[in-house]
Amino acid sequence: MSAANRGVVYKGPGEVAVESIAYPELALGNRKCEHGVILKVVTTNICGSDQHMVRGRTTAQPGLVLGHEITGLVVECGRDVEFIKPGDLVSVPFNIACGRCRNCKEGRTGICLNVNPSRPGAAYGYVDMGGWVGGQTEYVMVPYADFNLLKFPDADQAMEKIRDLTLLSDIFPTGFHGCVTAGVGPGSTVYIAGAGPVGLAAAVSAQLLGAACVIVGDMIEERLAQARSFGCETLDLTQEGDMADRIEAILGEREVDAFVDCVGFEAHACGCNHGKEAPATVLNSAMSLTRAGGQIGIPGLYVTEDPGAADDAARQGALSMRFGLGWAKSHSFHTGQCPVMQYHRPLMQAILFGKVNIADAVNVQMITLDQAPQGYADFDGGAAKKFVMDPHGSVAV
Ligand SMILES: NC(=O)c1ccc[n+]([C@@H]2O[C@H](COP(=O)([O-])OP(=O)(O)OC[C@H]3O[C@@H](n4cnc5c(N)ncnc54)[C@H](O)[C@@H]3O)[C@@H](O)[C@H]2O)c1
Ligand SMILES: [Zn+2]
Ligand SMILES: [Zn+2]
Repeated sequence: MSAANRGVVYKGPGEVAVESIAYPELALGNRKCEHGVILKVVTTNICGSDQHMVRGRTTAQPGLVLGHEITGLVVECGRDVEFIKPGDLVSVPFNIACGRCRNCKEGRTGICLNVNPSRPGAAYGYVDMGGWVGGQTEYVMVPYADFNLLKFPDADQAMEKIRDLTLLSDIFPTGFHGCVTAGVGPGSTVYIAGAGPVGLAAAVSAQLLGAACVIVGDMIEERLAQARSFGCETLDLTQEGDMADRIEAILGEREVDAFVDCVGFEAHACGCNHGKEAPATVLNSAMSLTRAGGQIGIPGLYVTEDPGAADDAARQGALSMRFGLGWAKSHSFHTGQCPVMQYHRPLMQAILFGKVNIADAVNVQMITLDQAPQGYADFDGGAAKKFVMDPHGSVAV
């Protein structure tokens, strides 16, 4: 077996590089992972969550091997893996979960208690997430393989839909979870903040859940056009104007039933200040634009430390929220990592049975591993694309 491996490495704010890295072992430091497998990576996606680190907006240290959105072929199984076999084509939930702790047993795999010594929850290639090596690589190790992996029923059939199935590792379940936790159902009116890949995945999910009207807001016209391409209404937030007035012009009502924040802490102000960061703006809009009794799904990421924040409070993740308004309207808020495992199987079936075209909706763009630095730069520049790397050239384009 080849001992060579290459991966995308965070070098410092604004810089990533493709470098030689160690071939994975069935271990993390001294921690043995006989319950793990080695994957030959088939596809691995760049995520807005990676961008927070690459922009220098987290405490991530240079040298970190990036990548938590992984689909791969099993090439080696540890001694304790019983059901996953070499040759299986699998989707990897970005959350790493032991399957044994109290939270895992309740299906809350985003806050597993055993995989990260410093806090609940872990992920591949991510700051504060347990030190697991990322998967924007040729090969990667996945622990607790029997529990974590979703095996595609037929590898050849899956390869035909791999541009869609690659989105099961994170953004499709994440967008769907945002909508479920916002209470979206048949006939709902929904506002989705952010038209990045997660926002577009949430918009598709809202449609899949039966929403009557889905409105997507962003400042990037190209991304809004992407949302319109599959039937969403859009709000261009570079334009002046009260958001409630603009929602009323679409719905005939000033509030929505459900609100999903697909932006997170690097949010920008609306209107003439749209170049300026305003970390609490989406959360404040959520409380003013959601009907009393409505629910607010918050997949957008908020941090406990932001070295790049504009003021001391925000540097510790403390934001200026008008929480009393949410309280007065009896809002429910749902935050945190998406527990991917709760959704990936049904969403896989929706893809395989042709019920949803998620890759087209988020505009998947296949690139090579060597094109990663350009992919990161273009994505950071606001391209209306979801960049998916194909490290071994295994996907026909
Ligand atoms: N909870 C989870 O499990 C999970 C999983 C994946 C991603 N995320 C997070 O979801 C968020 C979105 O991810 P992405 O890949 O789509 O990122 P992205 O950076 O591509 O998209 C964010 C979008 O928000 C827009 N935006 C900025 N301010 C806005 C505002 N006030 N109103 C509306 N839109 C605004 C930006 O123009 C951009 O298009 C990130 O914070 C990411 O970390 C969370
Ligand atoms: Zn992601
Ligand atoms: Zn666990």
